[in-house]
Amino acid sequence: MKKWKQKAIVQKTISYLPFGQNINYFFQKYVTKGENLNDEYFLDRLGHAKEHIHYYQNITGNSHPNSSLEIGTGWYPIVPISLFLIGSEKIYSVDIKMLTSKERIITTLEKFLEFHNSGKLKDFINYNSERFEVIKSILNDRGNYDLSQILQLLKITYIIEDARKLSLADNSIDLVNSNNTFEHIYPELLIPILIEFKRVVKKQNGVMSHFIDMSDHFAHFDKSINIYNFLQFSEKQWKWIDNSIQPQSRIRIYDYKKIYEDLKIPISELTFRAGDLSELKTIPLSDFYLNNSLEEIAISHCHFVSDMCKNEN
Ligand SMILES: C[S@@+](CC[C@H](N)C(=O)[O-])C[C@H]1O[C@@H](n2cnc3c(N)ncnc32)[C@H](O)[C@@H]1O
Repeated sequence: MKKWKQKAIVQKTISYLPFGQNINYFFQKYVTKGENLNDEYFLDRLGHAKEHIHYYQNITGNSHPNSSLEIGTGWYPIVPISLFLIGSEKIYSVDIKMLTSKERIITTLEKFLEFHNSGKLKDFINYNSERFEVIKSILNDRGNYDLSQILQLLKITYIIEDARKLSLADNSIDLVNSNNTFEHIYPELLIPILIEFKRVVKKQNGVMSHFIDMSDHFAHFDKSINIYNFLQFSEKQWKWIDNSIQPQSRIRIYDYKKIYEDLKIPISELTFRAGDLSELKTIPLSDFYLNNSLEEIAISHCHFVSDMCKNEN
């Protein structure tokens, strides 16, 4: 049986168990080694931080957002720590589960220190040396801090709640961002979440910036399939295969554009990776995708940026 199918079965089974996410973390860390904080993962997320900051600065002319909100930070808060380093004061992260821990934050801070020492961090973010001293002192004194004290020093607040009803005030956030998260949220949930983001993001100088990975995530792990493999399944089949540990909505760039258009969220910048048409053509596409151009279906990653001043309502 192909490796991706074995993984799908394991995740589906785990999804029915209590503490499914913790079991999945253990499985990924020690068995599939999918979510270790290696240099590749760290640099990829640092690249996202650089882009969010770049778009925010370009749109607003400000050096940094005072307040930010990330949805789906996950295990290693690389973007929130980057925002801390450039001077943000209130950094919120909303998730459905508390996936980070003291150990994972220390691991993340160690990576920041390693890249600071090698001089490479500067290529990504223009950070402030006083803020970096905070990171050094947390690492030096790690035994004396618990998770909540570390988060407080980094000005990060984790909100574990339904992102459709955030406990944040209207018009209060400068930058709302996400990485590799929208693809895990089906449109029935994503639409009310985006409506909530419109409520909390500032109408003056507020920015939204979302990076979406639309590739089949099973292909990240099983190199015998390509990133379009999941597009062959009907909706009914996919319901059986997909799981609540790491759901994949499979929607494409044109679906996101339509959601933005329907919600009247401005699209100020839209960048994407074209993907590989020849690989897409090897997949017998489900009827669900057939009314769209192959070029658009093939787009594998996209980044939506919104200048919320241009918001129509
Ligand atoms: C694949 S991880 C991405 C983690 C991180 N942003 C990264 O780039 O590595 C997806 C994250 O989205 C979170 N997530 C999924 N659905 C969510 C929802 N409805 N509300 C908030 N977070 C959600 C998951 O718990 C997980 O932390």
